[in-house]
Amino acid sequence: MAVIAMKCPEYKVTVVDVNASRIDAWQTDDLPIYEPGLLEVVKAARGRNLFFSTDIKAAIRESEIIFVSVNTPTKTFGEGAGKAADLQYWEKVAREILQESTASKVVIEKSTLPVRTASTMESILNANSRGIHFEVVSNPEFLAEGTAVKDLLEPDRVLIGAQQTEAGDAACREVVDIYAHWVPRGRILTTNVWSSELSKLVANAFLAQRISSINSISALCERTDASVAEVARVIGADSRLGARFLNASVGFGGSCFKKDILNLVYICESYGLNEVARYWESVLQMNDYQETRFVRAMVRGMFNTIVGKRIALFGFAFKADTGDTRETPALYISRMLLEERARLVITDPKALGNAKADLADALDRVELVEDPYEAAAGAHAVAVVTEWALYRELDWGKIYDSMEKPAFVFDGRNILEHRRLFDMGFNVYPIGMPAMKHFSI
Ligand code: UGA
Repeated sequence: MAVIAMKCPEYKVTVVDVNASRIDAWQTDDLPIYEPGLLEVVKAARGRNLFFSTDIKAAIRESEIIFVSVNTPTKTFGEGAGKAADLQYWEKVAREILQESTASKVVIEKSTLPVRTASTMESILNANSRGIHFEVVSNPEFLAEGTAVKDLLEPDRVLIGAQQTEAGDAACREVVDIYAHWVPRGRILTTNVWSSELSKLVANAFLAQRISSINSISALCERTDASVAEVARVIGADSRLGARFLNASVGFGGSCFKKDILNLVYICESYGLNEVARYWESVLQMNDYQETRFVRAMVRGMFNTIVGKRIALFGFAFKADTGDTRETPALYISRMLLEERARLVITDPKALGNAKADLADALDRVELVEDPYEAAAGAHAVAVVTEWALYRELDWGKIYDSMEKPAFVFDGRNILEHRRLFDMGFNVYPIGMPAMKHFSI
């Protein structure tokens, strides 16, 4: 919304939330999320045509277009628990919009939702006898965290799904007009509502599938002395495949991939498409396998026991350039290492606050420190879990000197210079490449 406000000065944008402390934070220079470049965008429009408020009712009454971006987590109860999307927040908002509105409005689904949600919401909204009409338009978001501002300013595409009726076309045009302020028309794709809803889930499923595919090959590379980085370079040179999103890793995290695939699986199952459901479910199984495999390699590499050993995790965020730790592989890895009774020390430039909350029940066995050198001092192993660029720039000689020997590095993101670290004395375990060890077992 901050980018829309910056690019469309003639629109008044009001961001509302039930969480007053978040709304307060949006009005300071200490924004409630870390996202490179976001503060500049907010500052360009804040107080001019971008406002933050907790007065949801007033904002509903005032607005002609409402973007609904409430969360749609995986259901934890009842029918579809563990797979289906929990739509209670969305429906609550729809009812509030219905209650407060005195004129017709366009309601935009910004949250990622299952197919056919828009038509359900439209039924709720239009069940009024006040002559007010609501048109629900799907406008899923494709930004990735850490590059959100760039992704919004230069999107590959903007997707708008509307009903193919006169009112639907009119609502679609209103939304197209907003984005056309800065996005070339050819990149604004319009579809029917259901294609739009489904495309969002499918885009994330395909991205995650690419990571699981390369991660599955990383396991084979480790056994065959092939290098997953070389395989990725070769296959990525095929323009039909493309080079991006082929980095083997400890596994994908983030609030979207797992949730959206589970949602897709649930939708397939509910239509009786069990083979399709199993196909997409395997993308998640491969991700679990990759996380588990990483910890197994650590235990095996460190002579089959890590009881009482100090292990430094470099990175806790689910990816670089964000403080977000939702579904982060680091959390699963931490839990498995704690099961093995290791002593953990975690470092991350932006995610220690979230790490503290995520591991609240285990803080007696986990240390959280800002400084990576301090984290590594006295450790038997360093495990790189998040691809923060700063880890590449560290003085690894100094780190080696401060560690217990033999010293191990498990590079879960393949960002370090493996040969150089090996020459310093480290035993180096990359992903999808043979380990470099100074001993033969
Ligand atoms: C993802 C999609 O990329 C966005 O297009 C989408 O809008 C967003 O979900 C969403 O639905 O909100 P995001 O989860 O923020 O974005 O981050 P990604 O860059 O997709 O990374 C997801 C995970 O995959 C991270 O843990 C990342 O480290 C991992 N990853 C990514 C790899 O392991 N290897 C790669 O080659 C790329």
